[in-house]
Amino acid sequence: MISIALPKGRLGNSVYKKLAAIGYSCPEMLEDNRKLIFENTEKGVRYILVKPSDVAVYVEHGAADVGIVGYDVLLESDPDVFELLDLNIGKCSICVAAPNGFADELKAPLRVATKYPHVAKSYYSKMNRSIEIINLHGSIELAPIVGLSDVIVDIVETGTTLRENGLYVCSHIVDSSARFIANKSSYQFKRQSIEAMLVGLEADT
Ligand code: PRP
Repeated sequence: MISIALPKGRLGNSVYKKLAAIGYSCPEMLEDNRKLIFENTEKGVRYILVKPSDVAVYVEHGAADVGIVGYDVLLESDPDVFELLDLNIGKCSICVAAPNGFADELKAPLRVATKYPHVAKSYYSKMNRSIEIINLHGSIELAPIVGLSDVIVDIVETGTTLRENGLYVCSHIVDSSARFIANKSSYQFKRQSIEAMLVGLEADT
């Protein structure tokens, strides 16, 4: 049995379709319900649905053998897992954004609101710019609008959220896309099954 941590939402749905197409279907997944675990014993597969930012935690600890996670999350949490494949979907960028018209006057420490504190710290330390991190978990764009921060470090996909809230991209930090990851000991003990899945996904990317 291979256990797969899938991120809840659009990315997870599209990866599930790819996996189903290469032999790992679990029709119950398509039903409208609130279940979090789905098994198809015949195909030897179990899906667990987790919050996107938690996928790597399940895989690192071996609660799932493999998983699909954004590179942004890997960069932030640096989990001890194998990164096996770039799926080339779920593409976005981590950027610095600020209210239209903002310019950093390099006076006081820059107040940075983000759910990527490590990425933000490492970016600004390379620039020798002192910052104060304000840790948020969602709706990051609000922070500079209501005066909680000067800028944000967040993911930008279509740019709509920034545009609709009067913000612009000041700097691009790094591109991100979905990655197929594996637990290190699962990769050793279930190598054949994981590689079969990898080959199927590679052929489809
Ligand atoms: C993410 C991100 C931005 C938005 C970017 O938020 O934090 O807010 O998507 O997408 P866009 O460029 O296509 O507008 P998410 O939807 O994950 O919700 P959150 O605010 O709860 O983090």
